[in-house]
Amino acid sequence: MNYTRDGNRDIAKMFNKLLFILLLCFNYNKFTAGASSDCMPRRTKYGLVCVCTAEHCDYLENPQPSSNEIALISSSKEGLRFAVSKLSFGEINTKTQTNTETSLKVDEEDFKNSAVIVDSRQTFAQLLLDTTDRLTSRSLKLRVNRSVEYQKIAGFGGAFTGTVSHLLGLLDQKLQDHIYKSYYHKDGVGFNMLRTPIGGCDFDLAPWAYNEEPRDDPKLSNFKKLDPRDEIKVEQMQRLKTVSDLKDLKIMAVAWSSPTWMKTNGRWTGIGLLKTEYYQAWADYHLKFIELMDAKNMPVWAISTGNEPLNGVVFFFFVHFMSLGWVPKNQAIWLNDFLGPTIRKSKYKNVLIFGNDDQRYSYPSWFVEMNRTRPGVLNYLDGLAVHWYWDDMFAPNLIDLTVRQLPGKMVLNTESCIGDKPWQTHGPELGSWERGEYFARDILHNLQHSYNGWIDWNLVLDEQGGPNYVNNNVDASVIVNATNRAEIYKQPLFYSMGHFSKFVPEGSVRIEARMLSLAVEAVAFKRPDQRIAVVLLNSEKRAVDVLLNDSVRGEIKINIPAQSWHTIVYN
Ligand SMILES: *[C@@H]1O[C@H](CO)[C@@H](O)[C@H](O)[C@H]1NC(C)=O
Ligand SMILES: *[C@@H]1O[C@H](CO)[C@@H](O)[C@H](O)[C@H]1NC(C)=O
Ligand SMILES: *[C@@H]1O[C@H](CO)[C@@H](O)[C@H](O)[C@H]1NC(C)=O
Ligand SMILES: *[C@@H]1O[C@H](CO)[C@@H](O)[C@H](O)[C@H]1NC(C)=O
Repeated sequence: MNYTRDGNRDIAKMFNKLLFILLLCFNYNKFTAGASSDCMPRRTKYGLVCVCTAEHCDYLENPQPSSNEIALISSSKEGLRFAVSKLSFGEINTKTQTNTETSLKVDEEDFKNSAVIVDSRQTFAQLLLDTTDRLTSRSLKLRVNRSVEYQKIAGFGGAFTGTVSHLLGLLDQKLQDHIYKSYYHKDGVGFNMLRTPIGGCDFDLAPWAYNEEPRDDPKLSNFKKLDPRDEIKVEQMQRLKTVSDLKDLKIMAVAWSSPTWMKTNGRWTGIGLLKTEYYQAWADYHLKFIELMDAKNMPVWAISTGNEPLNGVVFFFFVHFMSLGWVPKNQAIWLNDFLGPTIRKSKYKNVLIFGNDDQRYSYPSWFVEMNRTRPGVLNYLDGLAVHWYWDDMFAPNLIDLTVRQLPGKMVLNTESCIGDKPWQTHGPELGSWERGEYFARDILHNLQHSYNGWIDWNLVLDEQGGPNYVNNNVDASVIVNATNRAEIYKQPLFYSMGHFSKFVPEGSVRIEARMLSLAVEAVAFKRPDQRIAVVLLNSEKRAVDVLLNDSVRGEIKINIPAQSWHTIVYN
């Protein structure tokens, strides 16, 4: 372990202490780690980040536990970041008896009682938890039943906006490569999806679309090649695929707004719908982008019917960036009579089409309304795209309900970030564990329901959470130092998503994981390599014993530290 590269010995000492504790608890044993390197930690106002420079960045080769081994990968508020411990079935029961005397006295009934007081997910719950006796360690049962299977995982990803492309362009090639690898290589967090705007979005230096000129030109006579900004993006994506050794990058291309001449209000923002005479032109616009990307050897995997359609109808008051308004009735006509047939009759008929691409509160009514206008229109949809922003107020059951009404559609979260609300810091809280915890909890809750994957918002932002052409700054998992252009900071947010994306690859199937707890939660998967991956979150401010009972392997006990996230991988 070498944490002294940045001369921060206190943190190095703290890490060593933590590792020592882990050693005691877990029969610590590091896996062979050819491609692994450690986090270079730095304390920040809100917590701790891992710093990457051109010379150093942290990676973890995926643990491949053998038959009786268990790999425990841990991150904690105290400072663990993807720390690997090796346990094994059988052995553990005798080796982790440290505080069983008290812990085993806390039975499930006690736990349920205290859980009722605490309304799980909000931060005020933490305050309540704080008042309970911190010295009494809890012991919680987690039952994993492999024979109960749920949805299949399609993958995880982030957004490649104009801002992301711009920030990457500021950096030395080596540091850029660390960003690509950290996200998309299997030694990073193993993303396989990427969402990119067709034209501009708010995270860009200015609003733009293809064929802004000439106006009133349904033939799109000026849309013959990619915009220079997209040519740069495509080069960056090629590099991303190369350094990440990624064959199948699933690109979802989404438009925020049409050129202004296609809109009823003639502006980028405000109440503006697509003029009906341009319905075919707007479908052709999507096909044109798919063709031009394919010509650059960067095939588009999916499109959506457009980003946040309600912004251009009802939320124009709050939203000052590019948008195109749709109501379900109009969108049903456009999809059924124009976009759907245009794509399905083309060479690119296999490109997936996702619907809605807006908040959970519009589910399922959006689709019910579309179906009422054009029965059969929903057959054009392969997937449902959901944004996370109001998840606290609208339960994931709305998505389950929609999936029951529209079976067989892939459900992806297609946008998520923190810092958009009036009561939040509009920009990074560099190093904040709490933001990571909030994020991890929402991903976990959604995966416990019907979601097949998750695409985050901007892969990187600068220290202010921008640039954004209307100053709609927010947080991101990785922050670029745009001042010295020599450092990037991996926030807890990065590892919180990584605890899922890295260890739950495409093709994994969710299996049953039951836990009677609100502040400690779990979700489990059977991976294509037949190993089980259990993601476990401890939001309590104290350590917890988890008794994991797998339907095939039997029981192990794991002591997890206060405020920590884990992925447990075993055969
Ligand atoms: C769509 O409409 C048909 C009747 O035209 C109805 O049978 C079906 O349940 C509707 N589907 C949804 C999701 O509303
Ligand atoms: C970015 O780099 C500058 C110059 O080295 C430094 O002063 C600043 O603190 C760094 N920003 C962050 C967020 O660490
Ligand atoms: C697992 O689920 C199956 C199917 O519901 C059930 O038959 C079996 O008893 C369960 N196994 C355990 C160990 O709970
Ligand atoms: C694990 O759960 C099963 C099914 O509930 C139970 O029969 C078994 O006794 C449990 N194993 C242990 C070691 O508690």
